[in-house]
Amino acid sequence: MDVSLAIRSDGTAEKSFDLRLPLSGFESSVLACDQPLIISARPAPGSFRVEHHGVTVASGHLSGTTANLLIFDTISTAASSLPGEDIVNAVSEAVLACNPQLDCFEIELADGGLATRLAEAGAIERRGDRLIVRPQSFFQQAKSWLGSVPRSYPEVPVLTNGALHPQRPPKPVGRVYSRFIPWLNTQLGFHVADIETDLPHFHRWMNDPRVAAIWEDSGDLSYHRDFIAGRLADPRTLPLIGTFGGVPFGYFELYWAKEDRIGPHYEADGYDRGWHVAIGEDDFRGKAFVSAWLPSLMHYMFLADPRTRRIVGEPIHHHAQQIRNLDRSGFAKVKHIQFPHKKALLVMLLRERFFMDRLLSPDLSGLSTEDGQPVLGSLARGA
Ligand SMILES: CC(C)(COP(=O)(O)OP(=O)(O)OC[C@H]1O[C@@H](n2cnc3c(N)ncnc32)[C@H](O)[C@@H]1OP(=O)(O)O)[C@@H](O)C(=O)NCCC(=O)NCCS
Repeated sequence: MDVSLAIRSDGTAEKSFDLRLPLSGFESSVLACDQPLIISARPAPGSFRVEHHGVTVASGHLSGTTANLLIFDTISTAASSLPGEDIVNAVSEAVLACNPQLDCFEIELADGGLATRLAEAGAIERRGDRLIVRPQSFFQQAKSWLGSVPRSYPEVPVLTNGALHPQRPPKPVGRVYSRFIPWLNTQLGFHVADIETDLPHFHRWMNDPRVAAIWEDSGDLSYHRDFIAGRLADPRTLPLIGTFGGVPFGYFELYWAKEDRIGPHYEADGYDRGWHVAIGEDDFRGKAFVSAWLPSLMHYMFLADPRTRRIVGEPIHHHAQQIRNLDRSGFAKVKHIQFPHKKALLVMLLRERFFMDRLLSPDLSGLSTEDGQPVLGSLARGA
């Protein structure tokens, strides 16, 4: 399933560990580059290679003596016209995503200018002569998952239904987020719902009794067409479709909290966001999938605007299944809210908690590969 590069830790940690990567390679930066960068442990144990369109764009090896050190031997931006930053970040993503137990690791680059640019972006930190990659800051590098670094839209106050909130930016179209999930060995994507292509499955999902019991939005095709069109037209909402390996599996509705129905119930900040979900395909239900899409959706919202410091939710108060999922994903229970149509539990995830506690890497203890190994990408957190 995956291969180990047998890197040894140094004197700071007495134990040794294996650096793991998927056997078929880790696919990174799908949105930033037209084709993913494939990071693999080749050609020999202890080495790594980065390929793009079948061309090797970087290679390196692991130091066995001053461990947790990745040395880039070659980085060829000419062969691919990719920025060196994308190549180094792809390797960092692969290492951290597949080895979440690492608190940090060190890289060695011959190109001083590249190191400076990475340090200025916060992708690496300088400690004396050493270049350190830390997950807490690395996972805030938007380009690796969003394809670009989002601009902060100007803050202009506007009034909607009595709520003063920042004017919202124009909606994105197409794919907004892409992430390789090591334990599923596939790409997770979110794209903005498209009325023509997404209507058939959205319609089917909303009429699934399990979804309809919560959403109460079953109906005919024209009702669902108007539903998506309405969400696309409303500056408050962003309707997304999730895909695993390109296959649509669920609907996600993001909203800006301040002008939403939830806004008056707590001291909403102008950039707080919230979300609703409907998983429509049973084949993509359960722990391995929730632990992929849920933290990734939060990741998307925190990256899409760095001013978003909190994400809220309002599950109906007796929805124990989803409240447990939210709890496992870092959401705090705040209070109950009485809406006209339901009693809900206000839950909240802090930006700081998400990145500092590295919640993008779930605890998948209990899941194992076909050959009985712990799955790739799990960060055990204890009881
Ligand atoms: C509620 C819903 C989103 C849950 O998704 P699901 O795929 O059915 O997943 P389940 O709740 O059955 O299982 C999730 C598993 O992932 C685990 N999990 C959740 N978040 C996790 C995380 N961050 N890290 C690790 N594990 C996690 C849970 O503990 C659970 O594992 P367990 O069964 O071993 O305890 C989905 O059923 C759905 O869309 N329902 C209809 C609409 C709905 O209820 N929407 C929510 C409105 S608030």
